Amino acid sequence: MKRIFIYVLFVCLVASAIGYILYRYKKYNAENWSYKASDNLQEINIISIQDLERQAQEIIEAGAFDYIAGGAETETTLRRNISAFDDIDIYPRVLQGVDSPDLQTSVLGIDISLPVIVAPAAAHGLAHESAEAGTARGAAESGTIMTISNYASSTLEEIAQAGDGAPQWFQLYLSKDDAFNRKIVREAEALGMRAIVLTVDAPVGGNRWRDAKNDFRFPLALPNVAPAGGQTKGQGIGAIFSSAQNDFSMNTVRYVKSWTRLPVIVKGIQHPDDAEEAINAGADAIWVSNHGGRQLDGGPASIEVLSEIAIRVNKRVPIIFDSGIRSGQHIFKAIASGADVVAIGRPVIYALALGGWQGVVSLFDYLKADLSRVMWLAGTQTVEDIKNADIRPKCMMVRCVE
Ligand SMILES: Cc1cc2nc3c(=O)[nH]c(=O)nc-3n(C[C@H](O)[C@H](O)[C@H](O)COP(=O)(O)O)c2cc1C
Repeated sequence: MKRIFIYVLFVCLVASAIGYILYRYKKYNAENWSYKASDNLQEINIISIQDLERQAQEIIEAGAFDYIAGGAETETTLRRNISAFDDIDIYPRVLQGVDSPDLQTSVLGIDISLPVIVAPAAAHGLAHESAEAGTARGAAESGTIMTISNYASSTLEEIAQAGDGAPQWFQLYLSKDDAFNRKIVREAEALGMRAIVLTVDAPVGGNRWRDAKNDFRFPLALPNVAPAGGQTKGQGIGAIFSSAQNDFSMNTVRYVKSWTRLPVIVKGIQHPDDAEEAINAGADAIWVSNHGGRQLDGGPASIEVLSEIAIRVNKRVPIIFDSGIRSGQHIFKAIASGADVVAIGRPVIYALALGGWQGVVSLFDYLKADLSRVMWLAGTQTVEDIKNADIRPKCMMVRCVE
């Protein structure tokens, strides 16, 4: 009996020691990691974006995948961003003589090949070794705008170079360090970026349970972040957000407008009164978004607030929309609800992981084909026609089954 007890005790001690070593090793890795992201370079065959996500999950490191795919807390808003599209019906017009719909449009004077642009998302280096430079090339080849996150893992110069003159916007998380704000915006201006996207829905990071559980830390530097100048490797998103400003008002918009010559787009608007205030403060465009469900959990889906905001904006400035776009049908519904263009976040990162810049081109080709088909079936020839399409909340015309 005594021998069994000693044996069990011994096994427990060894197991604890191994556990502790693994814990230290994981922590050490998080801080000193030589992270290996995908280096795939290939066209990808996309059946659906849901399927794309599943495939990407197989090749992105688990903690990084959770950081990308996850949202705040229970992820209710994240899920609702997608499911709420099902509560809108498109009433097709089948006698409109539509032939090969025209997807081209423009936003803030920039012509694009489809009404879909790249949303700013941190650390594309988690998905692919070419990081944002790869995404920039893919967006450029696809004829659309790349919005570069302030928390990108490539430098602005590398991204501008890869874009080769294609339109790019720079997203700014306003730093507490005023000199840094002006410096990074000057750099974006000098590199030919065509707008500043001022994100105002992240005074603090959302409470992302998956990241907390994984103790997720960036295994790569984020070279465009103040004030540490890239000393971000090994830090979690909370630590990185701590250098950012955390009180936003109309004055914030006026402040940025006062020292950049670029148009300022205010990103993260979810309420008509905020849209009004942003416009009054000089915003050149409104970006309706709930950050892909990564900030406040328990709010409405982004698509649920869009039409009310669009009515209030009343075409005074363009509206960019994101959060939950996964198909041509979603793009159609968002534009019919008042958006001028939509942006996509996660799908771009998944496509980058699976195929590098060629994967990003495949994603935009997929969206072009999917949107074209929906436009054709719904009876709309142009993007302007989508704005006048007949969409209704579910059950308006057909009697609902209880
Ligand atoms: C991994 C990841 C990182 C993000 N980083 C930023 C960021 O740095 N700045 C920002 O304004 N929004 C950021 N976002 C939010 C996106 O710009 C966008 O609002 C959101 O992804 C849209 O939802 P979707 O992923 O469902 O398309 C990020 C989103 C993801 C998924």
